[in-house]
Amino acid sequence: MSSSPPRFFRDSSPAGAPGLKRSQFTYRQLSQLASYNASSSPLRVIAHIDLDCFYAQAEMIRLGTPEDQPLAVQQWQGLIAVNYPAREFGIGRHCNVTEAKKLCPKLIHQHVATWREGDVKWAYHDDAAANMATHKVSLDSYRLESRKIMAVIKAELPPQLQRVEKAGIDEVFLDLSAHVHTILLERFPELAKPPPYDDPTEKLPRPSIYALDWQADALVDLDDEHTEIDDPDWDDVAILIGSEIVRDIRRAIRDKLGYTCAAGIANNKMLSKLGSAHKKPNQQTVIRPRAIQHFLSDFKFTKIRNLGGKLGEQISQTFSTEAVKDLLPVSVEQLKLKLGGDTGIWVYNTIRGIDPSEVNARTQIKSMLSAKSFRPSINTFEQATKWLRIFAADIFSRLVEEGVLENKRRPRTINLHHRHGAQTRSRQGPIPQGRQIDEETLFDLAKNLLGQIVLESRVWPCANLSLSVGGFEEGVTGNMGIGAFLLKGDEARALKAGPHTSMADDGNELHPVEKRRRMDNGGIQRFFSKRELSQGANRELGFNDAAIKCNSNGSGGTLGSPVNEMVSGEVEKKESVLSVSEEQANRHEHPFTAFMCSRCNAKFESAEEHQSHQDWHFAKDLHDQERVNSAFVTRNHQANDASSSSRPGSQKTGAAADSKRRGRPKKTERGQSKLTFG
Ligand code: CTP
Ligand code: CA
Ligand code: CA
Repeated sequence: MSSSPPRFFRDSSPAGAPGLKRSQFTYRQLSQLASYNASSSPLRVIAHIDLDCFYAQAEMIRLGTPEDQPLAVQQWQGLIAVNYPAREFGIGRHCNVTEAKKLCPKLIHQHVATWREGDVKWAYHDDAAANMATHKVSLDSYRLESRKIMAVIKAELPPQLQRVEKAGIDEVFLDLSAHVHTILLERFPELAKPPPYDDPTEKLPRPSIYALDWQADALVDLDDEHTEIDDPDWDDVAILIGSEIVRDIRRAIRDKLGYTCAAGIANNKMLSKLGSAHKKPNQQTVIRPRAIQHFLSDFKFTKIRNLGGKLGEQISQTFSTEAVKDLLPVSVEQLKLKLGGDTGIWVYNTIRGIDPSEVNARTQIKSMLSAKSFRPSINTFEQATKWLRIFAADIFSRLVEEGVLENKRRPRTINLHHRHGAQTRSRQGPIPQGRQIDEETLFDLAKNLLGQIVLESRVWPCANLSLSVGGFEEGVTGNMGIGAFLLKGDEARALKAGPHTSMADDGNELHPVEKRRRMDNGGIQRFFSKRELSQGANRELGFNDAAIKCNSNGSGGTLGSPVNEMVSGEVEKKESVLSVSEEQANRHEHPFTAFMCSRCNAKFESAEEHQSHQDWHFAKDLHDQERVNSAFVTRNHQANDASSSSRPGSQKTGAAADSKRRGRPKKTERGQSKLTFG
C-alpha cells in the first residue's frame, strides 16, 4: 500500500506497547475470518463432529437401553454397528451374531428396521433376520435421527454465521470462522480497533495476558501438562473458542437427544476429521496449528482422506514407505516429477496439514436409488410389483427430505434396472413435470417401465431390481412459472409414447444415458473422480472413506459375489445433466457401437454414454459393497484376515482398528487437547 509507512516504523506502530512482540497475523487475516475465506485465512476454525457408534446409539435411545448395556445393530446375521460397552468384549463389525453372543451372552442385538415385501411402511420386525428373501433394510429411522441432530447443531449456531456440511449420516463439518470472529471481537475489543495507519497488512497486537487467563478458564477439562499454553497467538485463541463452541454443541446434542459424539477442531477439514477419529467416544481433540506437524508425522499417510486408495498405494510404492515423516523430506519437485504436477503439489501440502477445501453448506444429491437383490429369485410380475411399491415409497420419503413437496428440487427421470441371470435390462423415462410428485406417480412410472421390460423377452426369474431417480433440478418456489407446466421436446414426446426405452440394437440392455461433463482425466482428478462420485452414496449409507477404497481401486469385483441385500442410497455426481435425445431414443437405427462394457457387454455409441453406464455399475457396486461391509463382513474377514488394511471399512470398523485405538498411548500428544464432558 503506497500510504503505508516504511517497514522499519512498524515495530513501534501505535497498537502495541513498544518492544512488545506482535502477533504473526495481520488485521486483514483477522477480517478474512469473517468471510469464510478458506484459502487465505490462517486463522480459520473448522470442526468435524462424528456420532459415536451411531446406529447403535439410535437403537439404545429408541429402546431406552441403559448406557452400559452392550448392544449391537444386526443386519441379517451380521453386525453393522456396535456400542462401546460391547466393544469391550472384543465385538466389532467383523463379528456375526453367533460369535458376538459367545463373546458377550448378555449382548442385545437389535435388527435394523425393514420393509416387508408388499408392505407400505418400514417397521421393526422380530423375524427379519430369518426372512432376508422377503425383507429389505430401511435406514429411515437413522436418517430421521440424523436430521434431528442436524437441527440441534444448527440451533446452537447463530443463524447468520453458520456453515454446516453434512458429510455422512452421522457426521458434519462446521466452518466456525465467522462465529469465532464475532466472539473474538467481543472478548478482545483491541481487535475491533482499526489497524494502525489504516493498513490491513499491519500485524495484530499479541493476545493479552487476559487471553492467557481465558484459555486456562476455558480449558478446565484439559490435560494441561501435555498442552502448549505458553506464548499463544490468535490462531490458538481462535481454535480454542471453536473448541468451546463445539463443546456446547456436543452438550446440546447430549442434553436434548441423548447422543454422545466425538469431534475434532483444527484449521481445516482434513485435520478436523483426523481429530474426531483420534479419541473416541465422547471426546474432542483440538489440533492447534503449532501441533500439526507433530500430529501428522506419526500417521501413515494412507489414513489421510483421499490417500487411502490408489494414490496412497502409488505413493507408498514409489517412495517405499507409508509414513508421513518419511515423505516430509521429499521435495515438491520430486513429488511433482513422480506423481504429476497437481498431484505432487497436493500431496506435498496435504502431508503438511494444508487443506484449503471449503465446508460446503449444501451437498446436492444428484440421484437416489432403491434396490433389492433376490435370493431366491422372484418369478412373477406381481412379486416384482410389490417391491416396486416399496422402492417408490422409499425413494419418495427421501425426496420429501430433499424438499420435493416444497418444490425446492425435483428429479426429472426415473430408471429401472432388471437382472435376469447374467443379463441386465434397463429402461428410463421422464418424470412428468408441472405437477406434484407423489408415491403413486413413482410407482406407476416404475410399473410402466417394468411392463416395457417384461414385454421384451424372457425376464424371469429376476435376481435384482433397482429403481432410481435422477437429473435433479432446482424447483421454482412460490408461484410456479408457466414453463414448469410445459413439457419440452423429448420429454413431451417420451411421455406421449409412454416411458422412454433405451434399447441396444441387439436387444440387450442400455443404461441410462447421462451426459456428464467429463472430469479432467489428468492430474489429481483421476484419483478422485470415482471417490467424489461415490461420496454421496457412501455418506448417506454412513460409509467412511475406507469403505470406498475398494471401489476407488477399481476392483469393483463384487458383482460376482453372492448378493443378498442392497440398501438404498443416494448417488451424488459431479455435474450430471440428464438428457435423452432423439438420436439416443432411436439408437437401434444406428448399429455402430464403438464402446463396449467389459462387464456386461452392453454397447455404446459415445464415450459419454459408456461413462454413464460405468457410473451405473459403480453405483451398484457401492450397494453391493454395503452388503460386503455389513451383513457379510464375517466372510470377508475370514478371507482377508491378515490384510485388514486393504479390507473395505477396516480403517475404522474392524477389531484390529478398535484394538489399535484402545492400544494407543493414553498420553495426549504435545499440543493436542482433549476435552470431555458428561
Ligand atoms: N455403517 C455401516 N457400514 C459401514 C460403515 C458404517 O453400516 N461399513 C453405519 C454404521 O452402522 C454406523 C454409521 O454408519 O453406525 C456411522 O459409521 P461410522 O461413523 O464409521 O461408525 P460408528 O458405528 O458411528 O462408530 P464410531 O463410534 O467409530 O464412529
Ligand atoms: Ca460415527
Ligand atoms: Ca461417521
